[in-house]
Amino acid sequence: MAGAVLEGAEAVGKGSARKRGEVSAMKSDITNPKLAAAGQARVDWAGRFMPVLAQIRERFEKERPLKGIRIAACLHVTTETAQLMRTLKAGGADVALCASNPLSTQDDTAAALAAAGFSVHARRGEDNKTYYKHIDSVLDMKPQVTMDDGADLVSRLHTERRDLVPGVLGSTEETTTGVIRLKALEQQKKLLFPVIAVNDSQTKFMFDNRYGTGQSTLDGILRATNILIAGSVVVVCGYGWCGRGVAMRAKGFGAHVIVCEVEPVRALEAAMDGFEVMPIAQAAAKGDLFVSVTGDAKVISEAAFKRMKDGAIVANSGHFNVEVDLEALKKLSKNGGRTIKPEVEEFELRSGRRVLVLAGGRLVNLSCAEGHPAEVMDMSFANQALAAEWLAKSGKTLAPKVHRLPEKFDRQIAALKLKAKGIQIDRLTAEQKHYLSSWEAGT
Ligand SMILES: NC(=O)c1ccc[n+]([C@@H]2O[C@H](COP(=O)([O-])OP(=O)(O)OC[C@H]3O[C@@H](n4cnc5c(N)ncnc54)[C@H](O)[C@@H]3O)[C@@H](O)[C@H]2O)c1
Repeated sequence: MAGAVLEGAEAVGKGSARKRGEVSAMKSDITNPKLAAAGQARVDWAGRFMPVLAQIRERFEKERPLKGIRIAACLHVTTETAQLMRTLKAGGADVALCASNPLSTQDDTAAALAAAGFSVHARRGEDNKTYYKHIDSVLDMKPQVTMDDGADLVSRLHTERRDLVPGVLGSTEETTTGVIRLKALEQQKKLLFPVIAVNDSQTKFMFDNRYGTGQSTLDGILRATNILIAGSVVVVCGYGWCGRGVAMRAKGFGAHVIVCEVEPVRALEAAMDGFEVMPIAQAAAKGDLFVSVTGDAKVISEAAFKRMKDGAIVANSGHFNVEVDLEALKKLSKNGGRTIKPEVEEFELRSGRRVLVLAGGRLVNLSCAEGHPAEVMDMSFANQALAAEWLAKSGKTLAPKVHRLPEKFDRQIAALKLKAKGIQIDRLTAEQKHYLSSWEAGT
């Protein structure tokens, strides 16, 4: 890993935004500005593990491809996001940031960003009203590019803030659930500007969703509960990119893993990867820990709660807090739920059995831990930075559809990451290139 460590990370946006005093000098709304120094130290730490983004930032500093572009970002306010903000600023953009989830904001990171002159609107634990107030605050900058994790900015621009649409060149989207929402908008022919599905880049979903979610989901569960995973039965709902990662890591900890799926190919893959596969109705009675990562609603619902063992723990790592049917659980419970330790709520059912829910059913990795390691966010946010550059350059010429980043970006990002990790690979010879592009030669 030593090859990936960068020395001498600067303070977030140091000496830039305030001097220029542009839109980013807009007020911030954060929990505690006094946390800035602690936040800055953690932002610097994340920067050490983000060599690809650092190289893009160096180029941005020279070329200034985002000069004068206003970018409104609605992302998890984490240390890695702070490094992305810094990169966009280095490219000449004016950036305002709000949270993409009420529980994922790291207040110290928000303070560090605000101290460095960014306009930040995010408080950990904010209620729904404040969440949307903050979305409106960043949209007030009249963005030309928006950056989403879950499509909330785009959704707002297509409803309450349609007046801003003529000024929007395009948007980027970080996660699977956001891409699903945007594709639905496109299919109904209602999408009003181009969107780059950053999630659909290979250097995003194959690493962030699988290894990032896999590791950080277990990290969140352990920080909240400190349970022993070895010897326990872990039920993973959804065997997509995130589910594969969670199942793989739970197995690595020594759990017996059961997978629940609705899609036959994925279910078969899980079975051949060595996991037991069965419907949630059966798995419910067997699991000690349940993790839902489907992007779907009411995946763990009333019928499952009724069958669960006493003390079963339920967590969600899918984007929205809809996967665990909390309303049903509240109705089933005697007490309506009580917090027994931070981010752990206990529901006692009439049968006397107790079901424990982590982080109120919100993203457990970001609510109970720090989200993905910086090393994977390096590639996700390299994609974001290149997507913003592409929109600034070509947004006007792109159709109002959901686009993928050109494949050459994936290859560039992967090559930079390999280099940073000190890994060399083979090259095709001229003869191999010829062979691979011809059809004549057979047995
Ligand atoms: N926690 C994080 O930090 C993080 C990171 C990336 C993505 N996500 C979110 O995680 C979710 C999953 O993302 P992904 O990339 O793995 O998506 P994916 O489309 O690759 O996988 C989702 C899987 O869930 C299955 N599924 C759908 N409904 C189901 C149900 N009722 N029961 C069982 N399985 C069901 C689908 O068949 C699919 O195989 C999305 O909401 C995404 O936005 C979270």
